[in-house]
Amino acid sequence: MAKTRIAVVGAGLMGHGIAQVFALAGHHVTITDSFHANLETAKARISANLRDLGDDEKAVDRVTPLADLAQTVRDADYVVEAVSEDLPLKQKLFAEIERHVRPDTILASNTSVIPITAIMGGLKQRERALGTHWWNPPYLVPLVEVIGTEWTLPQAIEWTMALHADAGKKPAHVKKDVPGFIGNRLQHALWREAVSLVERGICDAETVDTVIKAAFGRRLAVLGPLENADLVGTDLTLAIHKTVLPDIESRPGPSPYLEKLVADGKLGFKTGEGFRKWSAEEQAALRSRVVQHLKKARDL
Ligand SMILES: NC(=O)c1ccc[n+]([C@@H]2O[C@H](COP(=O)([O-])OP(=O)(O)OC[C@H]3O[C@@H](n4cnc5c(N)ncnc54)[C@H](O)[C@@H]3O)[C@@H](O)[C@H]2O)c1
Repeated sequence: MAKTRIAVVGAGLMGHGIAQVFALAGHHVTITDSFHANLETAKARISANLRDLGDDEKAVDRVTPLADLAQTVRDADYVVEAVSEDLPLKQKLFAEIERHVRPDTILASNTSVIPITAIMGGLKQRERALGTHWWNPPYLVPLVEVIGTEWTLPQAIEWTMALHADAGKKPAHVKKDVPGFIGNRLQHALWREAVSLVERGICDAETVDTVIKAAFGRRLAVLGPLENADLVGTDLTLAIHKTVLPDIESRPGPSPYLEKLVADGKLGFKTGEGFRKWSAEEQAALRSRVVQHLKKARDL
């Protein structure tokens, strides 16, 4: 694929990692952030990541941080937004971006769960707007969900899928713009039942995680649920669903157990307690285990 000019808006956790992936793939990347310190440190964070992963450190030379939004997006073929998860902020930002880009520049939001229709609905040229949902850290997790709205041109989707595949990512096309797209719907269906098991006193939080990690979690990276259903037989899957589904959590809102944790200030790592208590050492050890695991998986 021809090398393009990419603009990244937001240089936080996701934005700097997305810039890194595109720069490593040979594209020229401009990046901006309204918070000076995050823009100032973007290149240093990218360099550190590249070094740590053994990737070409010279890729960072293709990244240009710019304080001005208009200047960041003006010459771009593709703009990806990774600012805070705030609908009015994203809407306002895209209205501003649209004033400065070419008519054919593709515009993407990296929102986690907000429907792209809500973010892009007010644009003048909605046919070039779409969602690209990356996973953290962007340079270690392969998937990028590419979400079209009812207005998005098929060519814009195809071009964006090719751009990400060429950069070594695994793009997945989400054909309908539903909240949470595919990945977060699946993930939070599992989390809802995980919370419910604790809430109902069936087991404690640590046991929920152990059951997943030591059982079907071991297979998940190579065996998806529908492959698994075919493997064991759709007839067995049907029989299991008849018995289990009526008892599985199906409430349409968040669990009161979760709401109480938040109300009690048990916010997880940031307060030292959530579903479980976490010392600083335990937090560091868990973060490190995740990164080491993802690095190993990257080399497979
Ligand atoms: N963290 C994740 O695991 C994850 C995964 C997938 C998608 N996302 C989504 O990606 C987006 C960014 O998340 P993050 O985790 O990188 O957040 P973050 O807080 O690390 O970064 C957001 C950045 O946006 C900047 N910003 C805020 N308003 C701005 C503006 N008007 N102009 C320019 N920059 C502005 C902030 O200064 C900050 O640096 C969110 O929509 C989030 O839901 C996050």
